[in-house]
Order: sequence, then C-alpha cells, then structure tokens
Amino acid sequence: MGAPEAAWHHTAVVYQVYLRSFADGSGDGIGDLAGLTARLPYLRDLGADAIWLNPWYRSPMADGGYDVADYRAIDPLFGTLAEAGALIQSAHAERLRVILDIVPNHCSEQHRWFTAALAAGPGSAERARFWFRPGRGASGELPPNDWMSMFGGPAWTRVSEPDGRPGQWYLHLYAPQQPDLNWENPEVRAEFEEVLRFWLDRDADGFRIDVADFLVKDPALPDAAGLPAGARRPWEDQDGLHDIYRSWRRLLDSYHGNRVLVGEMWLKPLTRLRPYLAGDQLHTAFNFDFLGAPWDAARLRQVIGTALGSIGAAAPWVLSNHDVTRHLTRYGRTSTGTGWQPDPGSADLALGTRRARAAVLLSLALPGSSYLYQGEELGLWEVEDIPGELIADPIYERSGHRIRGRDGCRVPLPWQPDAPGFGFGPAGGGAPWLPQPAAWRQLAAAAQAGDPDSMLALYRAALRLRADRDCLADDTLTWLTPAGDAVLAFSRPGQFACMVNFSAAAVPLPPDAEVLLASGPLDDGKLPSDTAAWLRTGDQPTSAW
Ligand code: BGC
Repeated sequence: MGAPEAAWHHTAVVYQVYLRSFADGSGDGIGDLAGLTARLPYLRDLGADAIWLNPWYRSPMADGGYDVADYRAIDPLFGTLAEAGALIQSAHAERLRVILDIVPNHCSEQHRWFTAALAAGPGSAERARFWFRPGRGASGELPPNDWMSMFGGPAWTRVSEPDGRPGQWYLHLYAPQQPDLNWENPEVRAEFEEVLRFWLDRDADGFRIDVADFLVKDPALPDAAGLPAGARRPWEDQDGLHDIYRSWRRLLDSYHGNRVLVGEMWLKPLTRLRPYLAGDQLHTAFNFDFLGAPWDAARLRQVIGTALGSIGAAAPWVLSNHDVTRHLTRYGRTSTGTGWQPDPGSADLALGTRRARAAVLLSLALPGSSYLYQGEELGLWEVEDIPGELIADPIYERSGHRIRGRDGCRVPLPWQPDAPGFGFGPAGGGAPWLPQPAAWRQLAAAAQAGDPDSMLALYRAALRLRADRDCLADDTLTWLTPAGDAVLAFSRPGQFACMVNFSAAAVPLPPDAEVLLASGPLDDGKLPSDTAAWLRTGDQPTSAW
C-alpha cells in the first residue's frame, strides 16, 4: 500500500543532491543539471521517493550557493532555467518529487537589493531591507553588538558610504558576503512569497528552508553575552517566525499537489520544534539530535523516544548532510562529534562502514520519513586531506585556516571505477572540483552495482523492502527488550521488527523470527556486534527473549 497522497512527506525517503558534487554533464568538473538529469534513473532504481536539491540559484558561490544573487535564476555553472524546469518534469516522470532549497535568512552581497542598499546610504528604504546600524565607540569603529558569525569572527561588517567615508555596519550571521535580510520589513515578506510562487508555478514539490529558525531577530539587537545557558538567543526561534510560516503554509496549501515545507533548525532540545510542527506551519523539520547522537544504544533509544514522544514522526531521521562529517567516519571514531574540524587518520573506516550499514537499517525502520545524503549509499567517507589551497568552504578562511570546514563531505561522487575522475564528468572533461581518494575506485556506483554485499545493494534492498511493507498503517513503535542494554530492538505494525546490536558480542535473534535483511553476515544464527537485522515476527512479538 502506498502513502495517501496528502501524507507523502510523512514516510518519504528523500535523497539529498548536493548538485555541484553529484554528476557533471558539461565537463567543467562541477556537477550540474545535465549530470543530475542523466542520473535520475539511478535515483529511481535506488528507491528514493523525492530529491532535495541544495541551492541552484545564481550565486557568486561564496558559500556554495547559499549566497543567492537572484532567486529566480539558475547559476550558469549548473545550467539554465529551462533545464531546471525540464529537470523537475523529468524527475516527476520517474516518480521522484523535487524539494528545492530556499534561503530566506540572507542573500548575496551581489543581490540587487544589497548593491542598492550600499549605494543609497543610511536611512534609506533600501537599507531597511537589511540590518544596517551605526557602530559603537567614539567614531563608530566597533560593531553594533557582540554577535558572532556562525563561520567565525564578528557578525557585522562596516561599509564605506557613497562619499567614501567609513560608515554603518550590516549584520551577517554567516559570511560577510551573506547579508541578513530584515524580516520586519513587509517588502522582504512579499518578495519571498513571490519567489515561492515562482517555483511552485514550476511544479516544485516543496522547500527545505535554510536556517529556518534565524529569520526573525529581536529588533533591539541586544548583546548575547551573559545569556544563561540554554536561553533563546536574540536571533533564533523568535515568536515572529510563526506568522511567516503560517503564511507560507497557506500559500503552499493554495496549490494542488501537497507541497511541503521542511525546516532546517538546529534547536535544542528537539522539543522546541513542536510549535512549528503543530499543523499550520511546517510539515517536517530535520531530527538533528538523531544525526548528532553517538553510536550508543542508550543515547539513540533516548533520542528516538523523545522525538516520537514529543513531535511524533514529524522530524525526519537524518544521518548526514552537506554540513557535517559523514557518518561513516563519525561512527569509526571514538569521539563521534559532527564538528567541522577533521581528525585525520583517527577513524577506523572498516568499523565505520559496519556501523553505517547498521545505522541505515535502523533509520529506515523508524516511523516517519528519512533523508539520505548523496554518497552514503556508496559508503563514502569524509575526505580529510584536501589540500588547503583547494578548500572552498568559507569557514576555512574565516577561521584563519584553523577549521577546515565542510568540503570533506562534498567531494564529487565516484560513478565508474575505471574512468578519469571516476566518471564524475564526461570523457575528456575537466577534473572534479575536489580530488577524490584513490580508494573510492572500489566504491564507484558501477563497481557496486553487481555486488550483493555492497553498500549500494544494501540500500537498494532496504528501500525495496520498505516500499513493500505497509510502514504507513500507523507510527507505532514498540520497544522490545532483548537481553542486554546494548541492543536496540523494536517492533512495528505488520509483523516487523528491527534489532541492532551495539555490544561487543553476538546476541541471539528472537525465537521464530525470519530475517528479511541484515546489515552483515550472521554469526551462527546470532546477530554480531555493530550489525542490524530486519525481521518478520509473529503477530505478537515477544517483548523479551
Ligand atoms: C546550510 C549551510 C549554509 C548555511 C548558511 C546552512 O544551514 O545548510 O550549508 O552554509 O545555512 O546559508
């Protein structure tokens, strides 16, 4: 049975496409729409229900496209508006929905609004679309408050006024090339609703909202120092956000086709997402507690239980994305932080691979939707030795080269084992924009396709089984308590159970269970360490065995 159309997002498996690293059709070494279009059958065969595309808009690429100069144009690196429209239609023909990335917190310093604001000077209507303020200090030489950029350094940059003198400062919670928009300004609200319409009219199935929790600021712009731990910071989770998302929801609901809003919000604890998911705002928001959890049965059980207990299955399970260290590498380390400072050499990749195989069976067995990040289905790891001069992530420069940033999870995908650049681009084209490890030869999609033990085969099998199962009947998850705290086991409706062994020793499977799929070979009928299994159970799975 398939999901009722209106609830497609509730159980969808969404594949994240980081466009410039997915597949290069033009031969310039950078992934693009032609490359993605040619690979849509791969995504269909994988079993994805939808794709989420990172920003494809015209951009100077100061932050990989999250600095948007024109929300209604495609960057020439990726293709044309006509190709974008055709991509959406081709994806639909393959039964893949398309979620776009909307970036409303900030635009690019090259956006026409920002260049107009610089030219217009203090007090102008043009500046009122952003957060321009005079500096502190005798001659305005200090930033207006103490806020820091997420990428390091102050969140304010001083401009030269049209007469050439040092003047006001503008707010940028990210890079200086990404000025924050002022959502108190009705023009900003109206413009984004028009942008949403522009893409909805082109059949986009929804939007992943970039830093959805930061748009509204406390207009007094108070200093953040001295806030008690856990207090709401003056740029996040502000009450005014709810009106924006209610209005966006009304707009989406006015279109046919069950379009969706997906929030990117790293709020802690996860229960802070609840008001946004109450029904009249966002459809879903990522479960980053799940992504951030170490490979530990107790912690994962707690994260899963808290999410299901507080917001149901409205927070999709996600293990990796373009902003964090790939989970295969994280799970191969003793310290499994998602941080941006790689720790070369410290990951046991064989261990990480075993755990990543188990992790995907865990996440796909849970109630609700799952997001996959491109390359995890190939078993790619974080690339931690990219030469400094090739690193494009602005975090590297902003941190004075102390933090290498996120490029290690953005290395172009390997498609063919024996082609230059592992077939990332066409024969005779340029090298991929970041170098791929030589060892990825064996991970190329074509090398894995015929191997039943490969990571790709595991993903395909899991997605096929998931689609066949009636995982939609309800969101019930019943914890089972096999021997040992280091085993996670739960049943789901439809005579289905999932069991993951985090302990060092093999553990027995429940009596009478039939193994549907396992992440690795069984050990004399037992489930080995760091292995997961999907099981067909009796009608009443035992709560203990
Ligand atoms: C995106 C990042 C981006 C940042 C600023 C995020 O949360 O996922 O890749 O750098 O927003 O737009």
